[in-house]
Amino acid sequence: MRPLLVKPALVGLQGESVLLGDKSIAHRSVIISAISHGNTTIENFPNNKDCLSTLKALKKLGIKITQENSETAKSCSAITILGKGLRGLSSPKGPIFLGDSGTTLRLLLGVLAGQNFKTKLKAGKSLSQRPMLRVTVPLRMMGAIIKSKVPCLPAGRESQKSKIEEYAPITIKGGNLMPITYKMPVASAQVKSAILLAGLYTKGKTEVIEPTKTRDHTERILKLFKADIKLKQNTIVIKGNKELVSPGRIYIPGDISSASFFMVLATLIPGSQIRIRNVSLNPSRTGIISVLKRMGANIRITDYRLPITDYEPMGDIFVKSANLRGTIVKKEEIPALIDELPILMLAACRASGRTVFEGVSELRVKETDRINSMSGNLKKMGADIRTIKKNGQEQIVIKGVKELKGSRISSFADHRTAMSMVVAGLVAGGETLIDDIDCINKSFPNFFSFLKNLLRPSCKVLLRPC
Ligand code: S3P
Repeated sequence: MRPLLVKPALVGLQGESVLLGDKSIAHRSVIISAISHGNTTIENFPNNKDCLSTLKALKKLGIKITQENSETAKSCSAITILGKGLRGLSSPKGPIFLGDSGTTLRLLLGVLAGQNFKTKLKAGKSLSQRPMLRVTVPLRMMGAIIKSKVPCLPAGRESQKSKIEEYAPITIKGGNLMPITYKMPVASAQVKSAILLAGLYTKGKTEVIEPTKTRDHTERILKLFKADIKLKQNTIVIKGNKELVSPGRIYIPGDISSASFFMVLATLIPGSQIRIRNVSLNPSRTGIISVLKRMGANIRITDYRLPITDYEPMGDIFVKSANLRGTIVKKEEIPALIDELPILMLAACRASGRTVFEGVSELRVKETDRINSMSGNLKKMGADIRTIKKNGQEQIVIKGVKELKGSRISSFADHRTAMSMVVAGLVAGGETLIDDIDCINKSFPNFFSFLKNLLRPSCKVLLRPC
């Protein structure tokens, strides 16, 4: 447990900085490099806890990875993966522990569904409580043999059987997979990716239909590695039984989810003007920019570029402080900003008028129940937040307030709740005490040095470990 005391920032942020590589792109880059032919050097790889879990898991599956730390930042590095082809992974000695990385677990299940050996995947405390049925159902349909933890229903509640969930630890044995056409009941990029990766191991066409488009990094990287993959609106078709070929080198653009905390902070502190360079601007992830702009934020994209055709677009994000007004965020917009909802909830608290976030139930099954963690914390700081059900969908309704006041709050051991609350503490009046900030290493180990770099010298004592 590492508590932190945060004081209000009275002077605007200034300067420019480069972020660590995007976590979602990083996971996919290493997994797909491992099952392709040739060596792949991945630049700006983020050494956060989740991505390190993916590296460790692949090493246990017999993949060689070399890593050189960058001179400029301890928290990012260039790594080289020695790919072994689709069927080059080897049976691990004992179970593989994945920490709390949901992306590692769900994507690896897709790859392991195609392997002719048994693997047991174990998870940390928070990941062991996250739903896995959404991914085990399609993989079983393809032919994988999967055993997982299913909680027993108490006597008399057998009628609730349809609500049964599955959790890690999960044991999977793959092999002869069949292609499927799968209409996904929930919009989840992790589930889609697991099915597409499993699709590589079939002798036919696997088709995935999404209810709403989710982040498409897997599709882009698979294309880059010469997979036979086609996209048509919300349907993705992948043809299996074709080896992947490494492009040799990949640069991972900065993580827009990490950038989001600073977009909101710079918007809310008067006198701020910052530039975040080389950020991933994949349209399936830029929902935060569209919504903040709609709320009146002063955000501009400069130097937009596509490093390699069909790969990931990136650019610089320039933010100047501005007054915000409320907006309605529709259900269809949620997947493109799902991880940014906690910080957007804070932005809504400081906007004039009412903001509604529709169709937000997926927030309940992240590292923690983020509707609960963020509403509880922000209410303690004086926010006006309600969660309502409309047409079977959960909505968050926030009325902006003039000022938030510092309070004692909890991170709920969730990285995005913790970072959002650090930002809340900096824009509130009075002192905010956060119980534990260790969890931030999950995605953004250099969060505080990045922040200190943008704070003026007179503000550098605003964050005090206690
Ligand atoms: C991710 C997809 C999203 C997101 C998570 C990362 C990914 O999860 O919340 O942080 O890298 O595919 P879901 O697939 O559960 O929506």
